[in-house]
Amino acid sequence: MEKRPIGIFDSGVGGLTVFRAIREQFPHEDIVYFGDTARVPYGPKSQNTVIEYSIQNARFLIQQGAKIIVIACNTAASAALQTLSKILPVPVIGVIEPGAIKALSSTQNGKIGIIGTNGTIQSQAYPSAISKLSSSIQTYSQACPLFVSLAEEGWENHEVSKIVAKEYLQPILEKGIDTLVLGCTHYPILKKTISHVVGKNINLVDSAEAIAEQLAEIIPNTETEGIGKDKFYVSDNEEKFARIAAKILGQNITHLTKVKLGESWYL
Ligand code: DGL
Repeated sequence: MEKRPIGIFDSGVGGLTVFRAIREQFPHEDIVYFGDTARVPYGPKSQNTVIEYSIQNARFLIQQGAKIIVIACNTAASAALQTLSKILPVPVIGVIEPGAIKALSSTQNGKIGIIGTNGTIQSQAYPSAISKLSSSIQTYSQACPLFVSLAEEGWENHEVSKIVAKEYLQPILEKGIDTLVLGCTHYPILKKTISHVVGKNINLVDSAEAIAEQLAEIIPNTETEGIGKDKFYVSDNEEKFARIAAKILGQNITHLTKVKLGESWYL
């Protein structure tokens, strides 16, 4: 049978934290990744724009043969999961629901903090996914838009990141949360700093790890042989993507291609 890849898309390079988690879980699967580096960031954009971009990204991946679409970007998953699930001919999963499930299984006191981009926080996607699973949980949300730039700047352990993290996180820490959802692709990169600021008693939920676990339930290792191949596509700035990718993945990436936005993206 023809081997079809898992398709992952993100607004840019941050989704490689999701790629990394999926690659670990599925060593034999081929993966095709698209990072929309020409149009990043999605966080401050309107829902309609993010939906439009997400449709194009997913259709591009389907053209590459993807058998399932993973929306690695929290902002895109918040805005576009429903639409993509309706219109695409393959299954689609997003980071929100697995992150919500993991947060619920982690909390003891029923108080969950959620951090993400402005788009993700405004969409209320995490609180509504959590309240569908349990009505007794209290959620406290905080947008942390500067975290994206700090992670891309390579400042994950920088003093400035600690100051910014304290400023953002103090209000939700005061609510007595015991669990914090890292609801953005870039935040796992800042995990050490965030963990330092929130202290040991708060569990950090990494939505990248959570979605890799959910994917394992949907496609229980269909490929059991060979080394899975990776293909990366971006819409701009290959060099920057490759540089940050090497840092996130701990190795240089091969098969990186720049694709031009255009009509061929529409099926
Ligand atoms: N990938 C986005 C997310 O997870 C963060 C970067 C952006 O704003 O595009 O929400």
